[in-house]
Amino acid sequence: MPTIHQAVLIPGDGIGPAVSAAVLKILKAANAPVAFHEHHAGIAALEAGGEVLPQSTIDAVREHHVALKGPCTTPVGKGFTSVNVQLRKKLDLYAAIRPVRSLPGVPTRYEDVDLVIFRENTEGLYAGVENEITSGVVTSLKIATRTACTRIAEQAFKYAKKRGRKKVTVFHKANILKLSDGLFLDCVKEVHESEFSEIPYETQIIDAGCMKLVQDPTQFDLLLMENLYGDVISDLTAGLVGGLGVVPGSNIGVEDSIFEAVHGSAPDIAGQGIANPLALLMSGVMMLNHLAETRKDDRCLKAANAIKNAYNQALQDNQKTRDLGGTLGTDAFADAVIERLA
Ligand code: NAI
Repeated sequence: MPTIHQAVLIPGDGIGPAVSAAVLKILKAANAPVAFHEHHAGIAALEAGGEVLPQSTIDAVREHHVALKGPCTTPVGKGFTSVNVQLRKKLDLYAAIRPVRSLPGVPTRYEDVDLVIFRENTEGLYAGVENEITSGVVTSLKIATRTACTRIAEQAFKYAKKRGRKKVTVFHKANILKLSDGLFLDCVKEVHESEFSEIPYETQIIDAGCMKLVQDPTQFDLLLMENLYGDVISDLTAGLVGGLGVVPGSNIGVEDSIFEAVHGSAPDIAGQGIANPLALLMSGVMMLNHLAETRKDDRCLKAANAIKNAYNQALQDNQKTRDLGGTLGTDAFADAVIERLA
C-alpha cells in the first residue's frame, strides 16, 4: 500500500477557512497523497474554547513535521502575542522562504519578476521583548545571534546554489544598527567566503534597496534579510506581481515546516467568498515539492506540477478573482483550477 503523507491543517482566521477549504479541494482533485489533521490556532482556537495556540496544535506539527496553515489574526497594539511568530519560534522554523514571481495572465508593471525572499524567522525585533521603562518611554529589543544569522545565510546560499540563482543580495541597515545588522552582515560574509564564493553576492542598505526594487525588480534575485525587513519586503514585492493573493511561503526548520501564504487574515473581505486562494494553493504546491524532495515521492511532484500548470492555465484563460481584476469568487476559482487539472 503506497504511503499517504500525514500533515497538519491550520485553517486560521478571517479568510483562512475559506481559502483552506478551496486548497484542500484542489489537492484532493489532483490526487495529492496527503491526509490532513485539522488543528486550530489564533482566534479560531479561542472560539473553540482553548488557548490561542493550543499545545495540541504544536504537538501535531511536531508529530507530522509538515503543516499547511491559513493566516491567523493578531490584535494591533494590545492583546495576545502573534501565534504566527510563536509557532515559528517554538518550532524553530528559522527560514522563511517566499518566491515572488510574475504570473501568466496577471499583467503588472513588470513582466519578468523572479525573486526569492529569505527572511530570518526567529529573532530581530520579533523576539517581542518590549518594556515600558516609565510612562511614555518604551524599549523593544532587537536580538541578533551569530547562530541564527549564520544558519539563515547558509540556507540562502545553499538554495541559491541548488537552484542556480544569479545573485544573493543582503538588505540591511548596518550604517545605523551597527551591532545587530553588523553581525548579520559579518555572518553572511563569512558564509559566502568560506563556502559559496562562486555565487555573486552584494549588500544593499535597505532604504535605497526599496527604491531600486520598485524601479527595477529584475536587478535582484535572492534577497536575504533579518526578520522585520523580510516581513515588509515580502509585501512590497507582492505588490510587484499582483498583490498578496499570489505570493506563497514556507517556514522551514530542521525537523518541521509550515507552509503559508504571505498574506494575513484579510478581515476587510472575510466571509464574502471573494478571497483569492491562490497564495495558499501555491504554498500547498511548495509543501508538495518539499514532500517530494524530503520523502522521495514522485507522486507529490506530479501533483505539484499538475496544480501549477492548472492554475497558470486558469489565469491565462482569464479565470481570476477580484483582487486580480476578475470576477470569480474563492470557490469558483478553485473549480476553474480543478477543471484544468490534466
Ligand atoms: P492582510 O494581508 O490580511 O490584508 C492586506 C490587504 O490585502 C487587504 O486589503 C486584504 O483584503 C488583501 N488580501 C490579503 N489576502 C488576500 C487574498 N488572499 N485575496 C484577496 N485579497 C487579499 O493584512 P492586514 O490587513 O494588515 O492584516 C490582517 C490580519 O492578519 C492582522 O491581524 C495581521 O496580524 C494578520 N496577519 C497574519 C499573517 C499570518 O498569519 N502569517 C501574516 C500577515 C498578517
